[in-house]
Amino acid sequence: MNIRPRRNRKSEAVRAMVRETNVSLTCLMYPLFLIDGKGQKTPIQSMPGIYRWSPDLVLTEIEECLQLGLTSFVLFPAFEESLKDREASISYRTDNFYLKTIREIKARFPEACIMSDVAMDPYSSDGHDGLVENGEIVNDKTLPILSKMALAQADAGVDILGPSDMMDGRVSFMREALDANGFVNTSIMSYTAKYASAFYGPFREALDSAPKSGDKKTYQMDPANKIEALRELMLDTEEGADFLMVKPALCYLDVIHLLKENSTLPISAYNVSGEYAMLKAAGEKGWINYEKAMPEMLLSIRRAGADVILTYFAKEYAQLVKSRTIEL
Ligand code: PBG
Repeated sequence: MNIRPRRNRKSEAVRAMVRETNVSLTCLMYPLFLIDGKGQKTPIQSMPGIYRWSPDLVLTEIEECLQLGLTSFVLFPAFEESLKDREASISYRTDNFYLKTIREIKARFPEACIMSDVAMDPYSSDGHDGLVENGEIVNDKTLPILSKMALAQADAGVDILGPSDMMDGRVSFMREALDANGFVNTSIMSYTAKYASAFYGPFREALDSAPKSGDKKTYQMDPANKIEALRELMLDTEEGADFLMVKPALCYLDVIHLLKENSTLPISAYNVSGEYAMLKAAGEKGWINYEKAMPEMLLSIRRAGADVILTYFAKEYAQLVKSRTIEL
């Protein structure tokens, strides 16, 4: 044998030299759930270690994360049922607690990269991402609502807008509105290939945002489809997106790879709530070594081609890096 691949695996020093992929803290975005009030840190049953934070406490949480080396955050609001209506009108009222909190965070930590969520579901009495008329989710009447929401969030100072709604044409609609109002530097990370997945369950519990009737299959993608993701890629690119996202991540590594191979834009992947819950549950039962499996999962998402990973594991990963359980 003149060729022995094991020679390049013989010690940690050699392995580290030939390692092809790594997960740095700067490629992670940490999702945080917000609730109105003061002094609130309420656990989410199906997501151990993840909380809904009131505005005062989320500031402390972000400060702690920044000290650990995490720089980017995605914020999702949980609004009380009584504030929701068909048109999601609370979403663009400048005095709503979500927008006020974004302002406070950006004032206190201008260096933090803050991404918002653009979709109607947390604000809609129907619990859908778009406007519901006679049981149908209507596309074109949703666009002006999303665009008002996007402008309000841009005005509050977000660095990146994250349209997660999957309506057709929303990226160009938002881009035009942003540019016309002087927000030329506000980026758009489009949820490009967002699938109608069963892995969003814990998130909907966290925000109490499940659809009141029906499902999301007329706007989110069919899990069976891959070529269609290329069609969405072409559209979002032409419409002016700055990042393209695949969601969920772990069951869709092939789609992440496909988008990476076919785009010059940065690709992000959303390692969603159900994926977090599964690993946490197995870890708590002692059926899997959580501290080893978690970084392996993140690595697999990066290896598939993701430049950016949105993950609930981010803070724990950063803590494991700090304690040198994980070497970067
Ligand atoms: C909705 C939205 C969802 C998630 C992010 N934005 C849920 C859905 O589409 O029903 C899911 C994130 C997760 O599961 O972690 N606009």
